[in-house]
Amino acid sequence: MKLKGKVALITGAARAIGRAHALRLAGLGADILINDIDLESFREFEEGIGAATVVDEIRAQGVECIGIAADVTDKEQVESMVQEALDAFGHIDILINNAGGLAGEVLESFASSVSEDDLRATLDRNLMGTLFCCQAVAPSMKTLGWGRIVNTSSQAGLQAQQGGVYASYGAAKAGVMAYTRYLAQELGAFGITVNCLVPAYVKTRRLEVLVYDAIPGVKEQLLGQIPLGRLAEPEDVAKAAEFFVTDLGDYITGQCLSVCGGAIRS
Ligand SMILES: NC(=O)c1ccc[n+]([C@@H]2O[C@H](COP(=O)([O-])OP(=O)(O)OC[C@H]3O[C@@H](n4cnc5c(N)ncnc54)[C@H](O)[C@@H]3O)[C@@H](O)[C@H]2O)c1
Repeated sequence: MKLKGKVALITGAARAIGRAHALRLAGLGADILINDIDLESFREFEEGIGAATVVDEIRAQGVECIGIAADVTDKEQVESMVQEALDAFGHIDILINNAGGLAGEVLESFASSVSEDDLRATLDRNLMGTLFCCQAVAPSMKTLGWGRIVNTSSQAGLQAQQGGVYASYGAAKAGVMAYTRYLAQELGAFGITVNCLVPAYVKTRRLEVLVYDAIPGVKEQLLGQIPLGRLAEPEDVAKAAEFFVTDLGDYITGQCLSVCGGAIRS
């Protein structure tokens, strides 16, 4: 139980990769704060979960867990969420900024034509949400003299996607990586590490429904780009986060780790 006594706040944790982070850290003994804009978002694409809610799933593992509905793009909601978490647990040791994704339609995300609204919403959801959460937890982590922050970028932030789709998302995720490196420089003196996960193709229920099972041939095409020959499971991303937040990652900060089965070749 490497994380017994630690408290982890995970954003966007009511389904998919965020839920995998929560289950994994709970399995290591951490108490968990599940954040999501919709604490029942697992219903949207009928993701099968092991209890009535993700909060119930986590509690069944024998750790403390509370769910906090909040929109990470709203600074005031983020600050209230962190205060509620501190009131409940006294400290937040681990922050996993997972909430994110493209706002708007994929075919309207091109660099030369993405609408201002979609661009701002995508920057808000990925970059500003991450920044607000980091700023909200940093003071209490500094007081603790210990903290682990894990942000979430994407392959799209490292490499332009073929044909130029996802330009707005790529720009936001590149920003998340730069922000990670700067924050790590600043917070290292306080015993706080800040790192970033860079997933590529993850087999979430949303992407199964909208892409992998919906568009003929796309799954095969993607598999051809992945040396390990399979899409990532959400748990593959959670395992990399475990590395950053346990003693294994004690001397690692300011780094961006591709979790991609070899698909990212840079
Ligand atoms: N799935 C992939 O293949 C993939 C690849 C690279 C990067 N990523 C990144 O990994 C992270 C998780 O992706 P996923 O595929 O599990 O996403 P998902 O869309 O399946 O789940 C995202 C969760 O975040 C919540 N959320 C969205 N906006 C929010 C907000 N403003 N405030 C709070 N919660 C919010 C949603 O309700 C949902 O529960 C995202 O940052 C995404 O960009 C995913």
